[in-house]
Amino acid sequence: PKIAALIVAAGRGTRAGGAVAKQWQPLCGKRVIDHTLTAFQRYPKIERIIIVLSAGDMAEAEGFTAQGCLVAEGGADRAASVRNGLALLGDADLVLIHDAARPCVTPQIIDGVIDALATDAAAAPGLPVTDALWVAEDGAVAGTQDRTALYAAQTPQGFDAATIRAAHAAFKGVAADDVEVARAAGVAVAITLGSVDNLKITVPGDLSRAARILESSMD
Ligand code: CTP
Ligand code: MG
Repeated sequence: PKIAALIVAAGRGTRAGGAVAKQWQPLCGKRVIDHTLTAFQRYPKIERIIIVLSAGDMAEAEGFTAQGCLVAEGGADRAASVRNGLALLGDADLVLIHDAARPCVTPQIIDGVIDALATDAAAAPGLPVTDALWVAEDGAVAGTQDRTALYAAQTPQGFDAATIRAAHAAFKGVAADDVEVARAAGVAVAITLGSVDNLKITVPGDLSRAARILESSMD
């Protein structure tokens, strides 16, 4: 199958703070987004890489098109950004949709998703929740939630191209990720093995965590 990667980088990075959005912040000698892109460029089976940038960042597009990537303009929310990227899929059979803010993604995680797509129309990495989970009321613990069926959602989330295009075309509302969009269309999504190292840079301390993860993987 022809496999495309779609990297969404059109968010504002509000929670992470900083002078520029998190995907543009420095991390181990290059920008966060460059680490993310490198992970997919090095992965042998990816034939097309699409990057989604915000309208205000389109001046960065040339740096990516010069590397053979396609660039789309982002939208008001993540789902809108993904939809704009999906328009550039061409004849790809499968698409891996990934957060630019997850620069520590590994070949093993990508392998897991692609392997699952041999039999499933949708597959995504999940990380079993390990901490006990409390349900709170008025700042006090009102109960403990059973976590045996709970996973933290990660990316890349992989899909049959026609299936995710149709799901996004039909979707109304706000979604945290593409698994939610697929599920809204009735698509079953297989869970593959995620990793605690595949963190999403979300709050300020995450950048230094990502730096430690990348440094230890270079040893
Ligand atoms: N994203 C996007 N377009 C949007 C919103 C988000 O492409 N309109 C991307 C972000 O760039 C990021 C990924 O979706 O790579 C995951 O979103 P999130 O972690 O929420 O990033 P931000 O929306 O940028 O951060 P925040 O919610 O803190 O503002
Ligand atoms: Mg966001």
